[in-house]
Amino acid sequence: MIEVRDLTKDYGPRRAINMINFTVNKGEVVGFLGPNGAGKSTTMKIITGFMAPTSGVAKIAGFDVFESPLEVKKRIGYLPETPPVYTDMYVRDYLKYVADLKKVPREKIKTQIDMALEKTNLGSVQKRLIQNLSKGYRQRVGIAQALVSDPEVLVLDEPTVGLDPKQVAEIRDLIKVLRGHHTIILSTHILSEVQATCERVIIIHQGRIVAQDRIENLAVQNQGQSRLNIRLRKDVADLKTLLGGIEGVVSANQGASRHDWEVHIRGTDEVVDAISSRVVKEGLGLLELSPHKVDLEDVFLKLTYGQDQAGVQP
Ligand SMILES: Nc1ncnc2c1ncn2[C@@H]1O[C@H](COP(=O)(O)OP(=O)(O)OP(=O)(O)O)[C@@H](O)[C@H]1O
Ligand SMILES: [Mg+2]
Repeated sequence: MIEVRDLTKDYGPRRAINMINFTVNKGEVVGFLGPNGAGKSTTMKIITGFMAPTSGVAKIAGFDVFESPLEVKKRIGYLPETPPVYTDMYVRDYLKYVADLKKVPREKIKTQIDMALEKTNLGSVQKRLIQNLSKGYRQRVGIAQALVSDPEVLVLDEPTVGLDPKQVAEIRDLIKVLRGHHTIILSTHILSEVQATCERVIIIHQGRIVAQDRIENLAVQNQGQSRLNIRLRKDVADLKTLLGGIEGVVSANQGASRHDWEVHIRGTDEVVDAISSRVVKEGLGLLELSPHKVDLEDVFLKLTYGQDQAGVQP
């Protein structure tokens, strides 16, 4: 649904993004994660057709963003980093104005405004002036204007920035509601945001994509290892020996109690299968076997702080 190939953007001598490649499939919710200045907003402005790249291609639903801008704009709802604030407009009137701009068919305008108001929980303030709303509500107006044309694709640039925790939770819930109906890419510099709402993540750092994968795979891929927590009814002196011969077992150490073990593995499901079969075959009394959630924060920090530290701060 979104396809980006070799996208590069220079601002004068400064290269903001460098040969970026990614795709987002129909119905996916993808997080575009990176520290300040990584190139998130630049990429989003290009894929929504608000800015031309220096080179490379961006397509939405097969339409080239610059060759077919109208086809693209019809299919996209965009929450920019700094939403245009028509502060002297009433919320509902503003949504009507955007719906007209986006050429929503006349007979659908009312239902789609109502839909956008309902999804963003703005019904109660629809007759208020935007300038009198709190920041959280204004952000919701920004999301409502992205939704009002009922677009296939939503591009949300830092949808929760500057909101209080309750508002952040509300926006996250909203994104969960939108999942399934729209293809969504949202940018953020906050990892937990991605974990809360996205199934896949693209990590960008200093204008380059440094990782992209499903969240659970990313953890494995970058640490090269993952960990299983195993609880056994039987006392075992040395689990590593008992697991001998299984390729992919790196270490097995006693955990919090004598029944608990932490087994580091390299590889994925087959290794886990082999370990669980062995434990059962040896009659060790398997009470629990669970993958340990690898701390993605570590992975993110490693990817975005590991290399050239040209003073880029989160
Ligand atoms: N109009 C501009 N002129 C010159 N340089 C720019 C311009 N816009 C962005 N940049 C530079 O391009 C790089 C990428 O900026 P961009 O806004 O895309 O990053 P970002 O990931 O959205 O950051 P943030 O998290 O701070 O919003 C930065 O180094 C920034 O300073
Ligand atoms: Mg930005």
